[in-house]
Amino acid sequence: MMGAATAVVVVVVLSVLRPAAAVSTEERSNDMIDWLPNGPDSMEFRQYSGYLTLGLADEAQFFYYFVEAVAEDPTTKPIIFYLGCHVKLCSPLTAAFQQLGPFTVDTDGQSLLENPNSWNKGELLPPSSSSSSLICMTLKAGDRHVPTVVAANLLFLDVPASVGFSFSTNNTYVADITDYSIAEQAQQLLSLWLERFPEYRDNDIYIAGQGDIGTIGPLLAVGLLHQNKIRGSPAINLKGLIMGDPNMDFMINKISKVEFYLQMGLMSFSTYQTYMDRCANVTQPTGNGTVRGGAGFVAPECIQIWAPVDDNTVFLERFNLYTPPCPDIDIANIMGPYSFTEFVYICRDQYVAGYFSIPFVQKAIHVKSPPEMTDPPVWMPSKGGSAWTRNLQSAVNPLREVLDGGVKVLIYSGVLDYNLPIIGPQEVLSKVNLTMDTAWRPWFGKSPVEFAGYTVSYKDGLTYATLKNSGRKAAQDQSEDVYAMLSSFINNQPLPNSSYFPHP
Ligand SMILES: *[C@@H]1O[C@H](CO)[C@@H](O)[C@H](O)[C@H]1NC(C)=O
Ligand SMILES: *[C@@H]1O[C@H](CO)[C@@H](O)[C@H](O)[C@H]1NC(C)=O
Ligand SMILES: *[C@@H]1O[C@H](CO)[C@@H](O)[C@H](O)[C@H]1NC(C)=O
Ligand SMILES: *[C@@H]1O[C@H](CO)[C@@H](O)[C@H](O)[C@H]1NC(C)=O
Ligand SMILES: *[C@@H]1O[C@H](CO)[C@@H](O)[C@H](O)[C@H]1NC(C)=O
Repeated sequence: MMGAATAVVVVVVLSVLRPAAAVSTEERSNDMIDWLPNGPDSMEFRQYSGYLTLGLADEAQFFYYFVEAVAEDPTTKPIIFYLGCHVKLCSPLTAAFQQLGPFTVDTDGQSLLENPNSWNKGELLPPSSSSSSLICMTLKAGDRHVPTVVAANLLFLDVPASVGFSFSTNNTYVADITDYSIAEQAQQLLSLWLERFPEYRDNDIYIAGQGDIGTIGPLLAVGLLHQNKIRGSPAINLKGLIMGDPNMDFMINKISKVEFYLQMGLMSFSTYQTYMDRCANVTQPTGNGTVRGGAGFVAPECIQIWAPVDDNTVFLERFNLYTPPCPDIDIANIMGPYSFTEFVYICRDQYVAGYFSIPFVQKAIHVKSPPEMTDPPVWMPSKGGSAWTRNLQSAVNPLREVLDGGVKVLIYSGVLDYNLPIIGPQEVLSKVNLTMDTAWRPWFGKSPVEFAGYTVSYKDGLTYATLKNSGRKAAQDQSEDVYAMLSSFINNQPLPNSSYFPHP
């Protein structure tokens, strides 16, 4: 299905303009990471990082970090192309070094710890227990009953150019950011990356991310499907789309927050009732009729009704309702509510920021400073001040097109993310005309007796899952369950069930 709303400008990469393979080979060997400071001495996989460029005279420089799968031959393993992280305009290095990559940054902001549940690892899982008696079964910590492994190659890209270590001398790349422009640039840069790493040309590719991936992921996937149709071979082997707590429809997400806030006790029933009566269905100023969630959040009366709710929740961590506070809090320096959340909760992002702001770490991963800059760049998970114009209101049509194009989709929700709550994606999916395969049921990840969440799957190739005790940073909050979920999805298996699950 290809509505006008989903038409994506097809990007034809002018590879003929670039000098031939020799340059590519040289760039590529320069990109090899020999060591990561303060990390393990030896590593059983290769890593690369460097820049891919767009525009005249390479005016826009995009940083990538590539981690090979732990496997005898990584080129036989899929590539997970990871964009963004838990906040807007965020470097995926944050997700890589906090959630799903081979290392996490320790609380000193300087050294690296190995991540046992890194998505590039395999061969970790013991075979599933065949014991049929719960009474005799001893569950050891870390026992898993999922026989499959991920062992994917991981490609992280700082896009748009205002993010992470990317930069541009042409302001257009930094100031003029939209859902479509990010998806288009990611599409072009993926093709450039595959030119530099031709042995991965035919690999299965999965697009993945969190939050804003809800619009960018489907647009990028549609763009790649169009590119495959037009350019003929070599096609990009897009296999799947993996989205955690995706914001797929701005309006629906807003109204789902109101419902979630009530359920989680973040607002009173009377405020909820007032809001729903007066603001849930508001006529769009564009005259497109009544929209649930509608303009309620911009109508002055509704802003006034909502204001106390925001005031009452401003001190919470934005991505997980129950995030524990940081270990060392500089209480004396807290000034005002925004600085409160920063001091009390944001330490974990600061660890990563600390590591990537160390000059010799930057040198080891081949970071370049923008031309006007003499000091090493200060790395931040998310740079403030970058404007992002959302120009895809709903991902329903592109998502339908992705599924019709034979690309499988995994959508998961951490049930404690109150900014992008579980209700939103489900309401969006209700508009995608999906055909049920296996009805809503519990699934089991790290343990066959402790449920990991609920799941539903559709014949169209879409799996939806919830994750208990998890916020938006799911691969940090429930790393083993997320690994099990991903592993099943990539290996075309249903999310693990449990034979211990008592059925009437
Ligand atoms: C900056 O990039 C935009 C988009 O590619 C292009 O149209 C414009 O001419 C560039 N500006 C300069 C000064 O090169
Ligand atoms: C809002 O619209 C929906 C769907 O049109 C309807 O089910 C609901 O009752 C309406 N709510 C109010 C408060 O009017
Ligand atoms: C309203 O409808 C017009 C015409 O169909 C469309 O271009 C526009 O995007 C719609 N606006 C919203 C907010 O849905
Ligand atoms: C779902 O089906 C309805 C009714 O046939 C149709 O109007 C709508 O466009 C479909 N939506 C999608 C995303 O295909
Ligand atoms: C999950 O396992 C239970 C217990 O063995 C079984 O009753 C149920 O049908 C299974 N569900 C699915 C979807 O396989």
